[in-house]
Amino acid sequence: MVDKDKRMSHINFLIGAFLTTAVIIQIESCNTNTFAQGEILYNNFCANCHMADGKGLANLIPPVVHSDYISNEENQIACIIRYGMEGEISVNGVIYNAEMPGFKELSDFEIANIINFMNHEWNPNVPFKKIQTIQKELENCEKSKR
Ligand code: HEC
Repeated sequence: MVDKDKRMSHINFLIGAFLTTAVIIQIESCNTNTFAQGEILYNNFCANCHMADGKGLANLIPPVVHSDYISNEENQIACIIRYGMEGEISVNGVIYNAEMPGFKELSDFEIANIINFMNHEWNPNVPFKKIQTIQKELENCEKSKR
């Protein structure tokens, strides 16, 4: 009886360890896909202005690399991507005053993936954003646009 219990607890431990590993691998590959899709979308929709390396263009286009604007306005970025922006802003001490078009064709998921790619790659102080968080942010700015 004791032996059987011992064996069972070994088996349970092994199953537990296996499941934990499987879950970790799942989460990792999920994030990796997110970043990979985000990178493709970034290259298609953003890189022609913000450049493939994210550093922007002189004093015409602001950088998205180590951007204090992104860190401070972290919860506005989804809305900027969907609706665009204009007017004077300061990014890392440089003043920009140009117009960015909105990208209404991008889904909530695609916007989330672009944001997580940019932050993972270039703004590591901004934590990973869940789709639910991005959707709340979008809802808030949609309300204010009505
Ligand atoms: C046609 C050029 C253009 C494209 C394409 C473009 N942007 Fe912008 N973006 C700008 C300009 C110009 C500004 C500054 C607007 C201002 O002066 O008010 C800006 C501002 C920003 C900002 C806030 C300031 C900063 O740099 O931290 C972010 C974040 C941003 N863009 C992300 C993106 C993302 C993500 C995409 C792709 C989905 C994108 N942009 C596509 C031109 C562009």
